[in-house]
Amino acid sequence: MSPIDIFLWGVYPYIVLTILVVGTIMRRVFFPRTWSTKSSQFLESKNEMVATPIFHLMLLFVLFGHLGMFIPKEVMDSIGVNEHMYHMAAFYMGGGAGVLLGIALILLIRRRFGIKRMKANTSRMDIVLYVLMTLTIVLGICATFSNADGSFEYRLSLTPWVRSIFIGQPLVAQMAISPLIYKVHIFCGLTFFAVLPFTRIVHMFSGITAGFKYLGRKAIVYRRRKIDERALANERALEFPSRVTPSDK
Ligand code: HEM
Repeated sequence: MSPIDIFLWGVYPYIVLTILVVGTIMRRVFFPRTWSTKSSQFLESKNEMVATPIFHLMLLFVLFGHLGMFIPKEVMDSIGVNEHMYHMAAFYMGGGAGVLLGIALILLIRRRFGIKRMKANTSRMDIVLYVLMTLTIVLGICATFSNADGSFEYRLSLTPWVRSIFIGQPLVAQMAISPLIYKVHIFCGLTFFAVLPFTRIVHMFSGITAGFKYLGRKAIVYRRRKIDERALANERALEFPSRVTPSDK
């Protein structure tokens, strides 16, 4: 085991967890007004209506799929889910959702960086987020497809490492023997969680705490405003009485 392995799989996950928890609490407590995804529907809605729901649905599917890593192989075996069945489900369902997620991400990238006013409303942190998300998702898909024959039984090494992090005894050697593509995917995934509190993705926690009420809430309606010159002049007069000219009256 090299010092890099010890750092990456024995220390880095705890740095990430600390930043994730402390950063999220600090953002919520000290910067509550920035806690938003900053809806961009009013900047562009045509592409958003297609790409955003697919992206969110597939991301939820993929991330919930990842929770399977917390169920030990022995438990799955005991309920009759053998290695072949698990691998097939992870490959076809996980891989399929991953590909749809990748396509939706490409559409969202095109929307964000290909439309002038969207680009003008994109922060440096958004760019970091998009790069990390793209790397994590693409590498995850590559890892899944590189293991189409199931020769890397990650439930014997990688997923025990994931669980070991949460009991404070990281099985570094188990993770160190994983194929490179899995390691890079997981490194990017961890880094994604480390930057999460400083990005617009924090809205994800509101989705969870609101008990998914968000999914059922009415859409925000943006209407094109019909300009009524007289009403506008009246509004201006109320707001800036000193600037009213005789023609406004
Ligand atoms: C940091 C913790 C993470 C770990 C330990 C992890 C682990 C894994 C593993 C083992 C696979 C391969 C599954 C297979 O071969 O069947 C995978 C696939 C994948 N991961 Fe992750 N991942 C992590 C974070 C993330 C994050 C944050 C994202 C998205 C932003 C992500 C997106 C994907 C995608 C799209 C796939 C391919 C589709 C699938 O199999 O679900 N992963 N991940």
